[in-house]
Amino acid sequence: MFVSTIEMRRNLNTMLSAGLLLLTIPVELYGIPPHEDVARVARFVANQCDWASMATISTHEPVQGQPFSNAFSTSDGPLGFGTGVPYMYLTRMEISVQDLKVNPQASMSMSLAQTDYCKDKLYDPQDPLCAHIIFSGSVVEVNDTEAIFAKNALFSRHPEMVEWPADHNWFFAKMNISMVWVLDYFGGVKKVTREDYFKASPYKKCH
Ligand SMILES: *[C@@H]1O[C@H](CO)[C@@H](O)[C@H](O)[C@H]1NC(C)=O
Ligand SMILES: *[C@@H]1O[C@H](CO)[C@@H](O)[C@H](O)[C@H]1NC(C)=O
Repeated sequence: MFVSTIEMRRNLNTMLSAGLLLLTIPVELYGIPPHEDVARVARFVANQCDWASMATISTHEPVQGQPFSNAFSTSDGPLGFGTGVPYMYLTRMEISVQDLKVNPQASMSMSLAQTDYCKDKLYDPQDPLCAHIIFSGSVVEVNDTEAIFAKNALFSRHPEMVEWPADHNWFFAKMNISMVWVLDYFGGVKKVTREDYFKASPYKKCH
């Protein structure tokens, strides 16, 4: 029986979303979009990455008022099913979250350097061909409805989260994106509006 690649992907996606498959899908299966489709590349990076570096404006001595960058586990949904919204599981005990309480503005960067893509192609993380993105925006707590999605998105990709200490009062939050900056090719950074970013389909051939 002839099964096209598209069908195979669709079947994989169905199984993945049903939680039937616990494999790491190689990045090649979900190939990176062409570099000129900047918004699609951004959505691809946001979906492939499991964590981000997020900078807040510090409220802590002796660096108050200075940028403070820290690593956070993220998920915008299952692999192949990203919504583009990076969700996080946070506690107010955390140093950067304390900054966000004073100023919710943040900058978040994600890079395919954390996937096999750049390693296999021998792209250095600072090489623009090792696609990376920077979100500008603010971090907001999500409502109860969105928290159900956020929980599935995060816990499916970060199984350890379910065991994080309950007395830390964890809550679900998202990066409320105002602007996306993309480095995926030579010639400098490219800007993608929030609208174009959310309109893009990272895994489809057609827009
Ligand atoms: C929860 O947040 C989502 C996303 O911002 C929004 O679409 C939805 O209307 C909100 N639901 C409620 C009950 O406020
Ligand atoms: C989210 O970001 C948009 C665009 O920058 C902004 O208009 C909106 O007020 C933000 N929402 C919250 C809850 O901060």
